[in-house]
Amino acid sequence: MSSPDSVPSPADVAARCRFEVRTDDAAFLAMLAEDVRRGFARRPWSLPPKYFYDDAGAGLFDRITELPEYYLTRVEESLLPAVARAIARDQRPTDIVELGPGSCRKARTLIDAIATAARYVAVDFGRDGLARAVTSLARDYPRLHVHAVVGDFATDLVHVPPPAGRRLALFLGSTIGNFDPEGSRRLLAGIRATLGANGSLLVGVDLVKDRAVLEAAYDDAAGVTREFNRNVLRVINRALGADFVPEAFRHVARYEEATRRIEMHLVAETAQRVRLPGVDMVLDIEPGDDIWTESSYKFTRASTEAMLRDAGLTLEAWYTDDAQRFGLALARPAS
Ligand code: AVJ
Repeated sequence: MSSPDSVPSPADVAARCRFEVRTDDAAFLAMLAEDVRRGFARRPWSLPPKYFYDDAGAGLFDRITELPEYYLTRVEESLLPAVARAIARDQRPTDIVELGPGSCRKARTLIDAIATAARYVAVDFGRDGLARAVTSLARDYPRLHVHAVVGDFATDLVHVPPPAGRRLALFLGSTIGNFDPEGSRRLLAGIRATLGANGSLLVGVDLVKDRAVLEAAYDDAAGVTREFNRNVLRVINRALGADFVPEAFRHVARYEEATRRIEMHLVAETAQRVRLPGVDMVLDIEPGDDIWTESSYKFTRASTEAMLRDAGLTLEAWYTDDAQRFGLALARPAS
């Protein structure tokens, strides 16, 4: 694949790439403005975690995945090759759909093992990052057709094309953990609707474990997660002309046992007046005021199975590491 004469021409790569924008910049900005308005309209103040990931935020997240404390990515990636071989053997999917593909590194592991894969569809709203990732995938896999949908998981899954043959959907990295139970039920039901009759879903979940291990993963010694958390304020400053001082907020990450979730918060350390011209708001912030920026739900095998069942899916196989840090659930539509 790396010999020079097997490198496909740009025209060939372009012919195998489809790019579809469902949420454009204006729609993205309108969605952000609405979420900011809503998030500061009542206490507790909150912001959805999907706005962390501008180019800077995506870069910070990449650094998080390499931190010694953040075991999630490493453990999931260590499970993937064997899981991919089992899927290749038992399901022989021809069509792979991924929500939130990032760099497509995990997709490559699956495609490497699944010789039958002919089409790869990716959904995400970081337009430029998505374009780079799928174009490079099409370059490296000369028989693969790729289709990128720029959009929001919650609204744009209806624009995923119907399966070309047998479909495997991927929702990796414990991104499902960012949704509350009702949101994850709706989202999984939406994925289920794209699967067709004999499709399946592989979903990655972070598992319930010792509080100290969980909290360290979200509050690393190098302070990368702190900057990642503050980045949502930088995104809002730029998009809405606001003047949050991100450095004036403390990063808090704590595990709530009752709800089995890590919560990330930004807590103001000083009084400040923040103007948000893009939404016509002014916030008078007092020390101790708190913005809830992310929930990251943790699961057990049983709670994963229950979540899948609520969305009309049946757990078919469960993969985990020896220390049971991370789980991969393979599911299919319940009959
Ligand atoms: C990308 C949503 C899986 O919740 O672990 C990392 C994001 N937040 N550190 C997670 C995140 C803080 C991450 N997900």
